[in-house]
Amino acid sequence: MIRSVIRSTGRYVPERRVTNHELTDILDTTDEWVTQRTGIEARYWVEEGDDSGTSDLALNAAKIALERADWQPEELDLIVFSTMTPDVNVPGSGVFLQDKLGAKNVPALDIRQQCTGFLHGLEICDAYIRSGKATKILLVGAEYQSRYLELTAANRDTAVIFGDGAGVVCVEALETQDEVGLITSILHADGRYAQALRFGLPARKSGHITDPAVLENNEHFPYMDGQKVFKLAVTRLPKIIAELLEKANMSIEDIDMFIPHQANLRINDAVRERMKIPADKMYNNIQRYGNTTAATIPIAFDELLEKKLVKSGDHIMFFGLGAGLTWGGLIYKMV
Ligand code: UT7
Repeated sequence: MIRSVIRSTGRYVPERRVTNHELTDILDTTDEWVTQRTGIEARYWVEEGDDSGTSDLALNAAKIALERADWQPEELDLIVFSTMTPDVNVPGSGVFLQDKLGAKNVPALDIRQQCTGFLHGLEICDAYIRSGKATKILLVGAEYQSRYLELTAANRDTAVIFGDGAGVVCVEALETQDEVGLITSILHADGRYAQALRFGLPARKSGHITDPAVLENNEHFPYMDGQKVFKLAVTRLPKIIAELLEKANMSIEDIDMFIPHQANLRINDAVRERMKIPADKMYNNIQRYGNTTAATIPIAFDELLEKKLVKSGDHIMFFGLGAGLTWGGLIYKMV
């Protein structure tokens, strides 16, 4: 049987580390508020004036993952690039990365699933691999969110949470009789909440993109109804964990590590307490990175591998919720 396994990982964040203290100079905020309400102590932002794009962040992480897999870029069958902050609006960032890697003629598919980008991406890789259409896929989650943020007190709730970074995995087809790799997945969407977290540009309800009202209404900046998304997260994430466990006929005890999306430490703590998950079985790194959207889960997985906190045979649950509204999870068994 063909299984989809993660052969290697890589991560990259820009050099500039921005502490909460630094933000108090530009936003009406405090280190105490940000730490207590979100868990975040610092995030990485691309240096101002740096001309690189999202695909450059991805390139650095991709080089590491490819080298660890011992794959050449031309060997890839597909690049799946997940981001909500692409280099430019059109074309997607996948083709920029393809060119920078020298992955000549390799198809590049961009997906726009925000915080669940890695979950959707791995599901897509699995469909390609199981159908025999691909054996080597580069799955990327990368975000350059700092350049989109409205750094004003009016938008301080959003401005403090987002960070830049990239996480990349090499996904490979493995012929085996063992039940390893991606074993269960559930993905959901609920478009009724599409307006709760959005970038208004360029799909305005009326008027042209160059309409001065776009700038006047701050439609070029992200908007988030934080409280609404928070409540959706703490109610739907426990449900998705229960759904996944039921589908896989497993219990909380059978999962060795839970890797949630990192939007707010309070969300993850609430989910963990609701589901009675031991603290050492849920990995959080939002303290150091903030919310890096599509890059979050692959960055966390790369860290766990580096720290040897997961090992062969372990069952891992990845899960998350974000703009769309989209939410879901995967159970993955390490080879
Ligand atoms: O990854 C995508 C999915 N996103 C999420 O899951 C995000 C979910 N939402 C959240 O994490 C939280 O809603 C936020 C961190 C965004 C905001 O935290 P909150 O506890 O919901 O704050 P709030 O917006 O309800 O605001 C509470 C108070 C307000 O002051 P008043 O009106 O009570 O005087 C805000 O003005 O906190 C104030 N506030 C801040 N104060 C200092 C909001 N942001 C800040 C700030 N610094 N950065």
